[in-house]
Amino acid sequence: MKGGFVGKEYLLGLLRSLSESFGPSGFEDAVREIVIKEVESVADSVWVDSMGNLFALKRGRKGGASLMLTAHMDEIGFIVTHVDNRGFLRVAPIGGQSPRVIQGQRVLVRARDGSLVKGVIGSKPPHVMKPDEAKQCPEVRDVYIDVGATSAQEVERIGITVGSPVAFERGLERLNEDTVVGKAFDDRAGLAAVIGAFKAVEDQAVDVYLVATVQEEVGLRGAQVAAYKISPSAAIGVDTTIAADVPGNEERDWVTRLGAGPAIKVADNPASFYGLMANRPLREKLEEVARSHGIPYQLEVLQGGTTDASAIALTKEGIPAAVVSVPTRYVHSPSEVLRLSDLEGVAKLLALFTEEVSPDWLAGLSTSRVK
Ligand code: CO
Ligand code: ZN
Repeated sequence: MKGGFVGKEYLLGLLRSLSESFGPSGFEDAVREIVIKEVESVADSVWVDSMGNLFALKRGRKGGASLMLTAHMDEIGFIVTHVDNRGFLRVAPIGGQSPRVIQGQRVLVRARDGSLVKGVIGSKPPHVMKPDEAKQCPEVRDVYIDVGATSAQEVERIGITVGSPVAFERGLERLNEDTVVGKAFDDRAGLAAVIGAFKAVEDQAVDVYLVATVQEEVGLRGAQVAAYKISPSAAIGVDTTIAADVPGNEERDWVTRLGAGPAIKVADNPASFYGLMANRPLREKLEEVARSHGIPYQLEVLQGGTTDASAIALTKEGIPAAVVSVPTRYVHSPSEVLRLSDLEGVAKLLALFTEEVSPDWLAGLSTSRVK
């Protein structure tokens, strides 16, 4: 294994450029360019499908079975629905926006020519709030964006139209040696880990696909067609998961904790009609690899929310799927927080698993003959 690619410094640099890139669902182009640049020199082939999913294949020593390592490129955002005659933009959310965190945020709006226009989500000063208004949280539908324009014509001239996508504008900052804050760690953190692992593995027996998907935040759309296309023997999805280990939450509701290592998912959305029961042999093998290499890990059951792995698991006749998550605080806010040591643990686990798994074992996950 080329250990540098699953090390903290490489992952931090990569996370920074991925996180700071613009890429709401359906507009992942800038993120995809970075992924291509990172993987093209180590892959046997690289291609992009009609939706924008990116595939990179590294052939194995033996072949005969393939492993899909996947993470999504898109982030939550907004899309312009209306420009009023004073130049304010009305928007609809892309993905799960929380009204509690969006007031007063700075954003970027992608203009027709691809340039990014600075804007701010307007907020009401306390001085002009009615007494009961001060206690309420405005709805996402009441959000407007101020790009400094004074008329619809000026907005038009800038190149912003109905359909222009919007994302938060935030740089990555290091809070301390091991802790970073930034936007879109969901799922640029998972993407960094997958890229690192894909670059690090050498002489692995199985074929390995890196798949960077689109449109996860709007319903796991890219993953579904991507998994169908390559039909892997098994898939490991990599995403952030909730670390609710903060004031106001009882310990039993934490889901995961920062600093306790990669989360290996057992299930998500267990009470609902759509979610994942991770393929058990695959999940247990991930645990075994972590244990045998002294990588601390935590088991995860997430009660609300799911990931690309759910769509992959139900593709074709069923693809064995598991998830390794990066514990992250304040997910779907412009200031998500994670530990680099957890991220490094995820990347290492993926690389070690890929190098150690045999084609026969992987292929055997699919069907076992009873008679
Ligand atoms: Co998300
Ligand atoms: Zn995600």
